[in-house]
Amino acid sequence: MSEPTPTVDAAAVRAAAERLRAARRVLVVTGAGISAESGVPTFRGPGGLWRDFRPEELATPEAFERDPHLVWEWYDWRRQRLVPVRPNAAHEALVRLESAAPEMLIATQNVDGLHGVAGSRRVLELHGSIWTVRCVGCREARDDRRAPLPELPPRCACGGLLRPGVVWFGEALPQDVLYESFAAARQAEVVLVIGTSSVVYPAAALPETARAHGAFVIEVNPEATSLTAMADVSLRGTAVACVPALTGAAA
Ligand code: OAD
Repeated sequence: MSEPTPTVDAAAVRAAAERLRAARRVLVVTGAGISAESGVPTFRGPGGLWRDFRPEELATPEAFERDPHLVWEWYDWRRQRLVPVRPNAAHEALVRLESAAPEMLIATQNVDGLHGVAGSRRVLELHGSIWTVRCVGCREARDDRRAPLPELPPRCACGGLLRPGVVWFGEALPQDVLYESFAAARQAEVVLVIGTSSVVYPAAALPETARAHGAFVIEVNPEATSLTAMADVSLRGTAVACVPALTGAAA
């Protein structure tokens, strides 16, 4: 039997849209769910495993030290899958929201770069970018959009091993990104949380921080999460079903 389609409460959409329309300082926190309808599998949903590995098994410095080739195979596979992927109506709706709320900031856990491709300007990539490579020797970082990469694991001109420019479990988030996103959380009037299971910290602490500082919390997710209980409005629908409705009414 197939899952019932979640229904989105129209009154809740109107209430949330009204809050968004009235706010100047909006923090949007996104996770893998916003890219799901573009065809990118989420980490903890169907299709999230690669060769039976969970992300926590491969997205670590220890896994890379043990087997850089295996870790790069995973990232190279993910990069190849992203090549034809386009932003969806939810990414696009956030671009419109940015023009209506000039102090809006997106803090994304996604490494796919789709907010930038859609045209959002103020985006903090909490977990880095899958399109960046960084040398473990000389530490130089640069963009490399080739997919597949011609050699695995790739090497830097200095001879050092290159690693994906992402944040792994057990690693600190970039200081500046962390600082700016938490400052925005403390100042936000509204925080809009889209498509994240809210289990990976410190990203999951952003809505909590915003709430503790008085922000109105709107969640968009087809499933209940650990954030749901503290959300002022929790829209039980997909990003494409909810976000354009929220921002259309908000624009
Ligand atoms: P998860 O895979 O943990 O969660 C995705 C969330 O999106 C779930 O709560 C789904 O219910 C929801 N979802 C699924 N389809 C959706 C749709 N169409 N619209 C809206 N929501 C939808 O992904 P994240 O929370 O992003 O970190 O995971 C956080 C971090 O864990 C990732 O950044 C990555 C991962 O391991 C690192 O690699 C460091």
